[in-house]
Amino acid sequence: MKPSSLSNSPRYNSLDEALAAIYGMKDDPLVNAGTNVVISRGNPRAKILLVGEAPGPQENIKGKPFVGPAGQLLDKILQAGEIDPENDVYITNSVFRMPPGENGANFRKPNDKEIEYYRPFVFEIIRLVDPLVILLTGNVACQSVLQKTGITSLRGKWTELDGRWLMPIFHPSYLLRNQSREPGSPKSLMWEDIREVKRKYDELRGK
Ligand code: URA
Repeated sequence: MKPSSLSNSPRYNSLDEALAAIYGMKDDPLVNAGTNVVISRGNPRAKILLVGEAPGPQENIKGKPFVGPAGQLLDKILQAGEIDPENDVYITNSVFRMPPGENGANFRKPNDKEIEYYRPFVFEIIRLVDPLVILLTGNVACQSVLQKTGITSLRGKWTELDGRWLMPIFHPSYLLRNQSREPGSPKSLMWEDIREVKRKYDELRGK
């Protein structure tokens, strides 16, 4: 998150105002996909903010991020780390509409142009929620917020920015495709990362 990009952010007076503006978007690069605007769920006063990739089919139907299989796994992981997904976390994405499918697939990953377009709105949500900790799930969220990728080497490492602590973690969809729990497996590394997140969260709150 470079300050230069942050200064380009639109400025809203409240989260509700920002959400209303995003819900009303008519010229975003995914408008022609015809999919719904899906922005966030969880507690807007939470001190942990989690950024995902893009809504998928379930999210597009229900209007909330991370409510399909990846979201169910995400909730389980957070709960196992004694982090309450509804109270301790505000959950959003890097882009706010499901991208259309390609080659017969249901949907594809957001591209660079889409990630860049929505970035100022993601930053604005961060500013207005004002979290202590930001979790970036997978490469798209790293590209959106940190403006770099390479989740395998970025995961598990803290970056401090403007008084906030950012940590890249694996995307839960990646864990759904990699079920091993062996030491060093994505699932076991995710567990280490979530324990560290909880430790930091408690430390920052003086618990
Ligand atoms: N994957 C994401 O990154 N976000 C969602 O909202 C759902 C699945």
